[in-house]
Amino acid sequence: MKKVLALSVMIVFSLFAVSSAIAGKCPQPRKTKSAPASTAKMDKTAKADAANGEKIYMKKAKPLVCKMCHGAKGDGAGKLGKALKPGPRDFTCAATMKKISAGQMFWVIKNGSKGTGMVAHKKSMKDKEIWDVVKYIRSTFMK
Ligand code: HEC
Repeated sequence: MKKVLALSVMIVFSLFAVSSAIAGKCPQPRKTKSAPASTAKMDKTAKADAANGEKIYMKKAKPLVCKMCHGAKGDGAGKLGKALKPGPRDFTCAATMKKISAGQMFWVIKNGSKGTGMVAHKKSMKDKEIWDVVKYIRSTFMK
């Protein structure tokens, strides 16, 4: 009996260790597919408005504000994000983000990422607004 108890304590403990290791992992495991090359190369952030992007990220985006999952600090630790598998992108993890272009981000925000909690925003956001939020994320969390 004692053996069984010790074993279950060990199992619970190791599961906990594994899940917390995944939560803060950098480089981050990434399920999202690559955008078509022509979109991945696009970058319209030069003329975008980061301040408007911040409003969208924190308060306005529909159906859910980005910070609910990606976190107010952009680290992927938003309230809802913790329950998701795969977890939301951690924009502060340079090892993963250095490979992700502005155009790739635009494409995923617009079309969503199949098989993950990342929904499409093409009906709720104009292209210009998507570029605003891309600029906000890149200039604030990816420095
Ligand atoms: C319901 C939770 C949720 C919300 C709300 C959400 N995301 Fe995501 N997001 C995710 C998940 C999950 C992924 C996929 C992680 C992966 O690829 O493994 C993701 C991925 C991304 C990526 C990474 C694309 C890539 O190529 O790796 C970007 C950029 C992004 N989200 C931006 C946003 C923006 C901007 C908003 C608000 C308009 C938003 N997300 C709202 C959960 C969310």
